[in-house]
Amino acid sequence: MRRAVCPGSFDPVTNGHLDIVQRAASLFDEVIVAVGINKSKSRLFTPDERMDMLRQAVAHLPNVKVDGFSGLLTAFCAEHDIHAIVKGLRAVSDFDYELQMAQMNSSLAEVETVFVPTSPEYSFLASSLVKEVAAFGGDVSGLVPGFVLERLTERLAERAAEDG
Ligand code: PNS
Repeated sequence: MRRAVCPGSFDPVTNGHLDIVQRAASLFDEVIVAVGINKSKSRLFTPDERMDMLRQAVAHLPNVKVDGFSGLLTAFCAEHDIHAIVKGLRAVSDFDYELQMAQMNSSLAEVETVFVPTSPEYSFLASSLVKEVAAFGGDVSGLVPGFVLERLTERLAERAAEDG
């Protein structure tokens, strides 16, 4: 079975991520979307919340599963017998860092990184920008699934109330 991983923070999942996951699902027999859990980084959503949203977003893709990992991506790949990492490339600016990670990962384990060019309509899309625009009241409705938009709006309102 040809199995691949789509790793990321997914804080939260965007339509750009889903475009890459969907295309990976048509290239591989099974795709695991793996949420990186890095306790030192502060996130808007907990790992469980990010995984819940992803599960809902990929429910229509029968060969896609969602999981979480802490530690090295290559250790996750070894545990799950995965030899391909799929990454979306939005622009040349993504390439330097992604190439470095791909080379590091292939030096650590027998994994190939497959780069998929992001569809042009999502080339500017990043979770960090979605959060920033939404926090300032901008319209991000075309950039994330509807149920993600609801949770994002709720969470940002909670944060704003906490911050007084
Ligand atoms: O969505 P992001 O923040 O670009 O995702 C980054 C992620 C989680 C894919 C990357 O940080 C990662 O692979 N982290 C796991 C730790 C690891 O393996 N580090 C070495 C990478 S060469």
